[in-house]
Amino acid sequence: MLIKRSPNGIDLPFSSEITPRAVFESRRDFIRQLAVGSIASASLLEMANREAFAQSASAQKLAAAANPAYAMMEKKTSYKDATTYNNFYEFGTDKADPAIHAGSLKPRPWSITIEGEIKKPMTLDLDSLLKLAPLEERVYRLRCVEGWSMVIPWIGYSLAQLIKKVEPNSNARFVEFITLDDKKQMPGLRSPVLEWPYVEGLRLDEAMHPLTLLTLGMYGEVLPNQNGAPVRIVVPWKYGFKSAKSIVKIRFTKEQPRTAWNIAAPGEYGFYSNVNPAVDHPRWSQASERRIGEDGLFARKRKTLMFNGYSEVAPLYAGMDLKKFF
Ligand code: MTE
Repeated sequence: MLIKRSPNGIDLPFSSEITPRAVFESRRDFIRQLAVGSIASASLLEMANREAFAQSASAQKLAAAANPAYAMMEKKTSYKDATTYNNFYEFGTDKADPAIHAGSLKPRPWSITIEGEIKKPMTLDLDSLLKLAPLEERVYRLRCVEGWSMVIPWIGYSLAQLIKKVEPNSNARFVEFITLDDKKQMPGLRSPVLEWPYVEGLRLDEAMHPLTLLTLGMYGEVLPNQNGAPVRIVVPWKYGFKSAKSIVKIRFTKEQPRTAWNIAAPGEYGFYSNVNPAVDHPRWSQASERRIGEDGLFARKRKTLMFNGYSEVAPLYAGMDLKKFF
């Protein structure tokens, strides 16, 4: 378990390791039922998998042409792993929670409001977002700060296409992404693990980089709820927490935005959060990673690559000390 030391010296679990009471209690019931033999052979994760597949059976297909510039030799993570091992704290802090609880999220109707330092503020509904630019399939690595990674075929287009449409003015230096904040749809919001809504941000040039993907689907379908339906971003050279899910607002700002994880633990989660094997997290090394799906007893850990292997972004940080701006 990952332990965090609080200012008063008491050990706190890393927030992803906290098991909410309801989940803990349902698990205890589950174990009790197992003991009395009323559930023969299942595991909690299998139950979560079944939920994910039930959702996937009704999922809408989303056609997109594969972009060969972002094809990848590495084996893709299975759909099952990508949809049952998630971080989406609005639905709980356990990896299985989002697949179990995200059924209450209503991804339609949906709209995104775009505001702030731009010439053309607007609100776009989902159909307008889907039509704004040709959808592409891009296979990206996603590396989580917790030390695991996945390889996922995402569907979307460069966020730059949307940014050009709203015309940032000369004050715009940063972009803030704000997630849905609705307790009726997101039971995890009742728990104060983070300051809600979940907010992330990028520098404008990072947001404009062609790799930054406005993401509407994965594996040939619309995004499953647990992966951030109906619209999220994916920033593949940064730790996964920069890739905000279920976005309702995009705001262009002059000042660097405050972000959910930076507010929660500023010494551990910097604004930049570029994948960097040379800068360890204060509590654990970032030098290597475990690829989800390769978890066998003899599975080899992979070396983590600078910028998660996306070296084309290096010019964005020319002259910056990435130990200081971690
Ligand atoms: N977005 C919101 N709104 N809430 C979250 O808790 N978790 C982040 C990110 N986006 C998170 C979020 C983290 S820590 C990671 S690693 C990725 O989503 C995980 O994305 P995935 O579940 O699709 O793999």
